[in-house]
Amino acid sequence: SPYKIAVIPGDGIGKEVVPVGVRILQACAKKYGFEVQLEHFDFASCDYYERHAKMLPDDWVEVLSRFDALFFGAVGDPKRVPDHISLWGSLLLFRRQFDQYVNLRPARSVAGVPGPLRNPGKIDFWIVRENTEGEYTELGGKIFHGTQREMVVQETVMTRVGIDRILEYAFDLAQSRPAKQLTSATKSNGISITMPYWDQRVAEMSKRYPDVKVESYHIDILCAHFVQKPSSFDVVVGSNLFGDILSDLGPAVTGSLGLAASGNINPTGKWPSLFEPVHGSAPDIMGQNIANPIGQLEAGSMMLRHLGQPQAADDIILAVNAVLGRGKPDELTRDLGGQASTTQLGDAIEREILAP
Ligand code: NAI
Ligand code: MG
Repeated sequence: SPYKIAVIPGDGIGKEVVPVGVRILQACAKKYGFEVQLEHFDFASCDYYERHAKMLPDDWVEVLSRFDALFFGAVGDPKRVPDHISLWGSLLLFRRQFDQYVNLRPARSVAGVPGPLRNPGKIDFWIVRENTEGEYTELGGKIFHGTQREMVVQETVMTRVGIDRILEYAFDLAQSRPAKQLTSATKSNGISITMPYWDQRVAEMSKRYPDVKVESYHIDILCAHFVQKPSSFDVVVGSNLFGDILSDLGPAVTGSLGLAASGNINPTGKWPSLFEPVHGSAPDIMGQNIANPIGQLEAGSMMLRHLGQPQAADDIILAVNAVLGRGKPDELTRDLGGQASTTQLGDAIEREILAP
């Protein structure tokens, strides 16, 4: 049966890069013989907000629950609608309602895109971030306001269920890869209750995956290793805060943060998972057909992998590497030093995928 995908372009360049992504999804479907059933939505955008005084229709949970995945562009147009309304009224609600407890991001060298490192080697790993609990809670408060004794407290929450489910996802992912190696981010020498508990759950879970090689590093030295030997990682798992830091650092050492994508995943399949580029709506370049669509295509690749089409997912990555690697100015957008439009770069990648 066809994969049911809700297409939500959102704002700004989202409306320019999502159509390229859709075209590539359709090219993959044609090549690999699966079916995608796409439905487009104009909500989760500032246009919608200006018409309806809300970011989403009242029945959004019911409407979106029917889909296998959400293919998202970007939301936000701060000159028209404040970011706390546009983002909190859409994307962040999706994450909570659909219990997207995994945030998944690739760190991968891209052909022709130079990174900041002299000899990075071949970088190809995943960062798995816990997305619902940990350090990002609203538990805490401030007392003795405005006095010398002023004091603030913010709690970290780690639950057995919450840790185990993110670890299970990370171990499964590691097990599915040739290197079968999992790195856990910790700080149990400084954070003396929650982090030792995290480590203990890692040790417990590793018993179920005897073929996965597990290593654990304190977050500080792990950041150093990301810079000094990024090619040594395979799958890296961290709490909400550590995962947040690592998931920007990882792509940054490859030089491809601007081309990266992110999955907000509910692995149970009970709710739809969401795939989006890491970049925002770029109001400064919107409407000119010059935005780079690669981040959106990476998001499409992640979505197809999640839906069970790993060959098609790999094919998108290969096509991106082929086109960027040959470095023809009429196939590269301006940010990559070329003169191609969004559509022209998309055309080049589509041709690459459909080439016999
Ligand atoms: P941004 O990522 O939209 O733009 C930062 C800079 O990178 C800009 O100069 C932009 O032109 C450039 N850029 C971004 N994507 C590009 C692409 N595909 N091709 C070429 N150049 C690109 O971040 P910014 O400016 O901080 O935020 C703009 C709006 O996007 C805000 O409303 C913000 O809240 C929202 N935003 C939304 C996100 C989401 O939907 N997940 C994520 C980040 C920001
Ligand atoms: Mg971040």
